[in-house]
Amino acid sequence: MKRARITGTGSYVPEKILTNADLEKIVDTSDEWISTRTGIRERRIAAVSENTSDLAANAAARALEMAGVSADEIDLIIVGTITGDYPWPATACLVQEKLGAKKAFAYDISAACSGFVYALDAATRQIEAGAVQKAVVIGAEIFSRILDWDDRNTCVLFGDGAGAVVVEASNGEAGVLASCLHSDGNYSELLYQPGFGTRFPATDENLSQKLQYIKMQGNEVFKVAVRMLSEVAQEALEAADLSIDDLHLLIPHQANRRILDATAKRLGLPEERVYINVDRFGNTSAATIPIALDEVVRGDKVSSGDILVFDAFGGGFTWGATVVRW
Ligand code: ACO
Repeated sequence: MKRARITGTGSYVPEKILTNADLEKIVDTSDEWISTRTGIRERRIAAVSENTSDLAANAAARALEMAGVSADEIDLIIVGTITGDYPWPATACLVQEKLGAKKAFAYDISAACSGFVYALDAATRQIEAGAVQKAVVIGAEIFSRILDWDDRNTCVLFGDGAGAVVVEASNGEAGVLASCLHSDGNYSELLYQPGFGTRFPATDENLSQKLQYIKMQGNEVFKVAVRMLSEVAQEALEAADLSIDDLHLLIPHQANRRILDATAKRLGLPEERVYINVDRFGNTSAATIPIALDEVVRGDKVSSGDILVFDAFGGGFTWGATVVRW
């Protein structure tokens, strides 16, 4: 069986930085509150002229460059996003056009903050089945456009950005060793964007109730997230016949520092084996893991043969983990 191997990584974040001090001028909050409760110091905000497909295509171009793969070699493009350019068509189709990836088929995956791990799983299965040779998997979001900037409970947490990987069929030992995914729709209304789907269409009344913005019960999300992130990381390592001792680096979804610390504690992992950049980018949803991975790769923090685990949790609820031998 072929293995799905990551041969290139890339990321792109918008230029504009919004600091906690900037937020103090917008809502009733403080740098002290945000830093101690979340670990976030600043986040990036997309320019008016930038859309999710632009961020995604920029990240993908960088990943393709690292892999030495040209756009016309790509068979498949998957974008994990819940803030696409349009409700439809898929942002992946817009990325296909921007990259000039003429022979690729392209679709989006809607799994909120787990979008990248879900998308990587889908590409892996296609490669293992022999249907696809080269895929581009992207996590890209512009959350700043679905935030209520009057709601301090949510607007301080999120940021914009994109990360991408090139995944290729390979005969070697390196690649995706295991991938475990889960969902539980019982929790759908603890973290969601009520409008404007078929349930709450874009009527004047629904607009006046601000249903186009994210709604969240932070405390409840926190508790479930920590449990699921630690359980699914263990499950995926076991599926790969590995243990936590074999793990070189956990690359978790960057929701907030306290979730990451609590997850690491439950897994018995010391700080240096958990990658954290939430302080600089906030929660970029499906983009957090591929942005972090790109920093790890470009910062020479991973070597051939190292075991990495991507660990995600998000709205749905959805959660999942991928074990990769580098
Ligand atoms: N600035 C100042 N005060 C605030 C702010 C803010 N930005 N936001 C909330 N508060 C206030 C609340 O109004 C509340 O005040 P009250 O006691 O007078 O009512 C007080 O702070 C405490 O609020 P809590 O919600 O209890 O604060 P908590 O310690 O739970 O922290 C937080 C809130 C950071 C959202 C936390 O629950 C959390 O991290 N949850 C996880 C949610 C998350 O990360 N979601 C992202 C998407 S899911 C994912 O990616 C995994």
